[in-house]
Amino acid sequence: MSLTPIGEFRFGESRRKITTATLREKKFQRDPITCLTAYDYATARLVDEAGIDVALVGDSLAMTMLGYENTLSVTVDEMLHHVKAVRRGVKDALLIADMPYGSYQVDSSEAVHNAARFVKEGGAEAVKMEGGEKRVDVIRRVIDAEIPVAGHIGLTPQSINIMGGYKVQGKTLSAIEQLMRDAVALDRAGVCCIYLEGIPREVAAMITAEIGAPTIGIGAGPDCDGQVLVFHDLVNLTFGHPAKFVRRYGDAAALITQAMLAYKADVVSHQFPNDAESYHLPKETQVALETVVHRTVLHRKPALRR
Ligand code: KIV
Repeated sequence: MSLTPIGEFRFGESRRKITTATLREKKFQRDPITCLTAYDYATARLVDEAGIDVALVGDSLAMTMLGYENTLSVTVDEMLHHVKAVRRGVKDALLIADMPYGSYQVDSSEAVHNAARFVKEGGAEAVKMEGGEKRVDVIRRVIDAEIPVAGHIGLTPQSINIMGGYKVQGKTLSAIEQLMRDAVALDRAGVCCIYLEGIPREVAAMITAEIGAPTIGIGAGPDCDGQVLVFHDLVNLTFGHPAKFVRRYGDAAALITQAMLAYKADVVSHQFPNDAESYHLPKETQVALETVVHRTVLHRKPALRR
């Protein structure tokens, strides 16, 4: 089998398996990394077949799939349910699973235990944890357990109660300094990549230039080594005003609604299903059935006949 260069990938073609090493290679070659969230089998198939590098089972599924207010309530078991489905749909993309809030903040042993569940039960190839310097010890423990870790700094949604909401981070000199320390600490701990969320593009560019780990941005400008978007934002399935950094590439909500209205109209007007969409009896059964029905009608008492 010949290897298809990643940049020339076309929909549906097979390509080489993306690993954590591929991400570093791509940073080195200045070949942008693509990442989308995937939460179920169908979207995982589409993400993989479109040649996206990383399928991220983000804890954003708490809102997009489960209708929670924020990411804080989703559990390891709920996440695992989705990771397993995505595993069944992803072949070549790297599968990263988000560690939900509470699954790695309590102590390192529990973090390793939960991270191992994502690998053993869910088939994840890496896990993602939010936080910088303060998370380095636990991240080291998880990497020591042979589990690649993706870092996540900046606007970290699991910290909304501390940050006072979804606010762009890294806007003051001291905040920039802290972000830089966080990125360097994660890089030294050996993370496979760092997600940079909700920070000024200038800061993301500085971090990206400073560290060896690839950076994947969301609301962090164009100078990161790669970009991630939430699948539901990409195709307009999020039912609200999108954030400034979202670019909508399709309108699945309109497409799906149109299909559902057309279906409803056909059902109520008896246009669906038609004869071609129905199963038919084999000829001999049809003939036999007609004979039986005929006999039954003849033997019925007249009062019962219609
Ligand atoms: O949960 C998620 O979808 C994420 C990405 C936005 C990075 O963490």
